[in-house]
Amino acid sequence: MFAATAITEGDKPQFYKELSDQLEALLAGENDPTANAANTSALIFQMLPDINWAGFYFLRSQAELVVGPFQGKPACVRIPVGRGVCGSAVERATSILVEDVHAFPGHIACDAASRSELVVPLIYDGRVFGVLDLDSPTPSRFDSDDQVGVERLAAIYTAACAWEEQVD
Ligand code: SME
Repeated sequence: MFAATAITEGDKPQFYKELSDQLEALLAGENDPTANAANTSALIFQMLPDINWAGFYFLRSQAELVVGPFQGKPACVRIPVGRGVCGSAVERATSILVEDVHAFPGHIACDAASRSELVVPLIYDGRVFGVLDLDSPTPSRFDSDDQVGVERLAAIYTAACAWEEQVD
């Protein structure tokens, strides 16, 4: 049984180092993308303070994201590429850190409580195949340390999964 260990000491880089180690241990020996996305979102939601949504959207075609495993309130199911923070992160193939969601043109509100957001693209073999999305009820909850840390978590998730074995 995996039991997440409380992380109480240190600064954000140290926090994400320890969380990365825990995620590596949690995903070790498992390569199923859905199972790993479920456990990754559960660990993030349990460990990161002050977030109200953590989860995945996957590209089901080149035009559209579909929600995957997540923790938080029920969410919008489909997001067109280029729309919202998630669709924009896919289009740009870069992380997007939004300090105030109300100031982001085209932001898609799934939970009215969300005030800031961090979206990291999932990239395998040079191609974006989805995003990891975190929402917070606090404005400016995420900073560049969070971005670097969550990009590391996304990379651990991507590396753990066997994408070649996925059947279309
Ligand atoms: N806010 C996102 C939509 C997904 S939810 O936050 C879970 C967006 O603008 O793409």
